[in-house]
Amino acid sequence: MSRYGGEVLQAQMLVDEAVEALQAQIDDTAIIACSGGIDSTVAAVLAHSAVGSLLHCVYVDTGLMRKDESEEVAGMFGDLSIELKVVDASERFFSHLEGVTEPEEKRMVIGEQFIRVFEEEQSTCGAKYLVQGTIAPDWIESGGGERDVIKSHHNVGGLPEDVDLVIVEPLRELYKDEVREMARQIGISSSERQPFPGPGLAVRVLGELTPDRVEACRQACHIVETHIQGAVEEGRCDLPWQYFAALLPVRSVGVHGDARVHGETVVVRAVASLDGMSARYSPIPHDVLAAISTEVTNTLKGQVNRVVYDITHKPPGTIEWE
Ligand code: XMP
Repeated sequence: MSRYGGEVLQAQMLVDEAVEALQAQIDDTAIIACSGGIDSTVAAVLAHSAVGSLLHCVYVDTGLMRKDESEEVAGMFGDLSIELKVVDASERFFSHLEGVTEPEEKRMVIGEQFIRVFEEEQSTCGAKYLVQGTIAPDWIESGGGERDVIKSHHNVGGLPEDVDLVIVEPLRELYKDEVREMARQIGISSSERQPFPGPGLAVRVLGELTPDRVEACRQACHIVETHIQGAVEEGRCDLPWQYFAALLPVRSVGVHGDARVHGETVVVRAVASLDGMSARYSPIPHDVLAAISTEVTNTLKGQVNRVVYDITHKPPGTIEWE
């Protein structure tokens, strides 16, 4: 059998096993948070195949999503013929994150608010189970083994102890590349999308999360994505595994026309990786970086006046900045 045939068979086996396990586990109404990311989408499709209308899919707009993301996720679930409820909770997230700058505390606040939104949805639909798209690196990096906590992933470490739902994690033992294979196998259109962290842009905006700063990061991420995708289409560089911008609360002096500007810093991050556990920085052509820098500083005039390029591997860095 060809290698490709073997992978297809393997992916189908993983899908069948997961659906069977979910049928055995879930005997009542279940709820799932769908972010549009590959992990939660695969978990939703598997659970929907297993229990059909017992599953309630909810998309929480935290105000921390990428540009146009909410519309795209709604469209994707429409294409999958799975009903999706969209809850706009952005004000709630921003108000709870006010004044919070410590990375672990941000993750805890976000994790807790996620669950609180879910409890409200649960009381509406009477769910007993919470399905999550947790994959192996999520809990390994959250201190699942004997290791130090590197980052508490919002779908693991952020869980409050008094959560009143039975947690079901069909992808818990799997790595990203296996989940991608499953996504291709079940025909999820986003299977080639780059991964996006559960806490969203929160881990890319260092310092306080205000709507303005998150919007700046959103625009910078969009600019980075557009330029790098353009360069890849022209065959100028390989498609990185993940590529984005982060906003740093580092102010430096700059100049716009005759005016002095004391603006913040955007960092461009692009990495090659297989499963996110380790990564190498992706070389991006210098003229592409220059075009990104020009567009970011023009678009965010007065707010951002410096753009830098991160050339750190993982380890010693992590992929995200928080
Ligand atoms: P790091 O930054 O730890 O990230 O090298 C490894 C991969 O995980 C993603 N990431 C997350 N995914 N919840 C998630 O679902 C999280 O809290 C989280 N934090 C990081 C990150 O984007 C990268 O792909």
